[in-house]
Amino acid sequence: MPITQDIFYSLPEVWDFCLEKIYDKKEYIDGLIELFKKEGISKKSLILDAGCGSGFPSIDLIERGYRVIGTDKSSEMVRQVQLNAAKRKVSIEAYNTMWANLAKQFGPVFDFVYCRGNSLVYAASWEQNWIVPGRSREEIERAIQNFYAVLKPGGKLYVDVTNKDEKPHKENIGIVKTKEGEVEIVWEIEHDANAKVRTWTIALRFLDSGLRKAYPSYSYLLSHTELVDYFEKARLKDIKEIKINGEKNYNVFLGTK
Ligand SMILES: C[S@@+](CC[C@H](N)C(=O)[O-])C[C@H]1O[C@@H](n2cnc3c(N)ncnc32)[C@H](O)[C@@H]1O
Repeated sequence: MPITQDIFYSLPEVWDFCLEKIYDKKEYIDGLIELFKKEGISKKSLILDAGCGSGFPSIDLIERGYRVIGTDKSSEMVRQVQLNAAKRKVSIEAYNTMWANLAKQFGPVFDFVYCRGNSLVYAASWEQNWIVPGRSREEIERAIQNFYAVLKPGGKLYVDVTNKDEKPHKENIGIVKTKEGEVEIVWEIEHDANAKVRTWTIALRFLDSGLRKAYPSYSYLLSHTELVDYFEKARLKDIKEIKINGEKNYNVFLGTK
């Protein structure tokens, strides 16, 4: 009897598959650069990608001449960002640093800090199969305080979060080509409004073999009011929700130190 080979992908690789489908990357990068221009951010400015993941959009920004440093608490992600950068012959400074430790590593040196890809809500639960909502709230608050601490006076903080109107749902993200052939990706989003927990499961189906894999992630169901409260408590000013061309997945907030 033939042995069916199992297939293994890391979460960073699976996130990379999703990014291919959920963004028109060029449109989003152009949208971000438009924002930079409006906010006085130039190629001389120093930018922090806090929770850089596998390198979107930091690698693209570096390719376009911007000075971006990446940090992430996941050593798997830091490995992936280096692999992705090397494939594109880009050099990136990326550190394995938790948001809570940013102020220990950096002074107030950044003109712009962004934390995107709906990352903040995973502050105390990424790559874990459990979540304690109260711990997540503490870690989210500490993260925002640390973002504030590493900004220069007048510097800008960009944070995106789960869409305000999101309802629990299942969504076909599309089909990606991998070295094992085509893979269909489905996202399932569940909300536990009482516990304030959001479960996001990425389900993969390998079309050739029929093999299925599921990657659940648990996050804090952060409301926009809570996010704005944390911004205010951290002493950020001019807090506003903004629109970025090409950002159709998450809601974006901006604050100024
Ligand atoms: C959904 S991924 C998004 C990655 C990337 N920002 C993007 O837009 O593709 C979430 C990222 O947040 C990072 N992260 C979560 N909690 C963190 C923390 N407390 N400190 C630093 N990074 C964290 C994870 O390791 C992961 O790389």
